[in-house]
Amino acid sequence: MIWVIGSKGMLGTEVCRTLKENKIDFIGTDSNVSILDFKVLEEFAAGKKISFIVNCAAYTAVDKAESDEENARALNAEGPRNIARLAKKIGCPLIHISTDYVFNGSATSPITEDFPIKPIGVYGQTKAEGEKAVAEETNDYYILRTAWLYGYNGKNFVYTMIHAMNARDNLKVVNDQRGTPTNCTTLANVILKIVQSRDSSAAPQNDKIPYGIYHVTDEGETTWFDFAKEIFTRGLEAGIVTNKNCAVNPCATSEYPTPAKRPAYSVLSKKKIQKTLGIKLPEWQESLKSFINSSCFDKKRIEL
Ligand SMILES: NC(=O)c1ccc[n+]([C@@H]2O[C@H](COP(=O)([O-])OP(=O)(O)OC[C@H]3O[C@@H](n4cnc5c(N)ncnc54)[C@H](OP(=O)(O)O)[C@@H]3O)[C@@H](O)[C@H]2O)c1
Repeated sequence: MIWVIGSKGMLGTEVCRTLKENKIDFIGTDSNVSILDFKVLEEFAAGKKISFIVNCAAYTAVDKAESDEENARALNAEGPRNIARLAKKIGCPLIHISTDYVFNGSATSPITEDFPIKPIGVYGQTKAEGEKAVAEETNDYYILRTAWLYGYNGKNFVYTMIHAMNARDNLKVVNDQRGTPTNCTTLANVILKIVQSRDSSAAPQNDKIPYGIYHVTDEGETTWFDFAKEIFTRGLEAGIVTNKNCAVNPCATSEYPTPAKRPAYSVLSKKKIQKTLGIKLPEWQESLKSFINSSCFDKKRIEL
């Protein structure tokens, strides 16, 4: 039985959907089984034959974290330590999700897994501490660093942009941060493959994927501005962007100061995960198109 922690979050929902589609037994929990308390986790796992843990729970409010460091650290560092400790105790592997925000954005070419960690804000710092905590508690872990995530069940850039495009005639979007938009479906499919490689109830015949850190996003790279333009084009085609007169213009990050600094360059190298799994990850434009055209697209989230 796979245990998905943070199962009702944006990524967790997609992980559960993917496991269900593939008829893999799982159980999901959220803050009702708090990762902040080791005993609570231990009691929950007792007698359940947990064979794999996927941790999608986190403190994800990047700006709020700057003034709420204690809670961010509890969820992003202490929680993962509890989960990893439990995984070791019950003898099951752990997939833990991390972020491009563990890097400072100074790279100029796709960032590999061994690139030095140097977070520039509280969220990134506490996520980096979470990675370290996981590795200190167990050897049987996968840390999947992802970036610029959007999914059906969550507040994200795609829904925000479409709502804004329909509500306004002018939008400014930053053009000096580079990264790769990532559909949660892409990451959930990679999680599925890793689970299938280890979990005997899922697919015993597959080769085991080696433990370690992997970067997983969609393929390609862009800026938030070009991402917004693609959302506009695809949204018009799909009939969900209804205000064709909305002008989308570029601006500099300095025009939109936020409490947390964002890394200027966040493109992660996907070579390792693609080689290890023998797969080709989808281009971000393809993933966006399927998101916008999917029956799971939640139109309520873009209502005016
Ligand atoms: N969103 C992005 O753009 C992005 C980018 C890079 C990496 N990531 C990483 O991807 C992962 C998934 O992010 P997401 O955006 O899907 O997260 P999310 O939608 O904010 O979901 C967070 C989940 O954590 C759960 N949670 C909160 N406190 C908890 C507690 N004490 N015990 C157990 N569960 C608790 C929440 O449950 P309740 O609803 O019950 O509180 C919720 O299910 C995170 O590790 C994040 O750091 C995200």
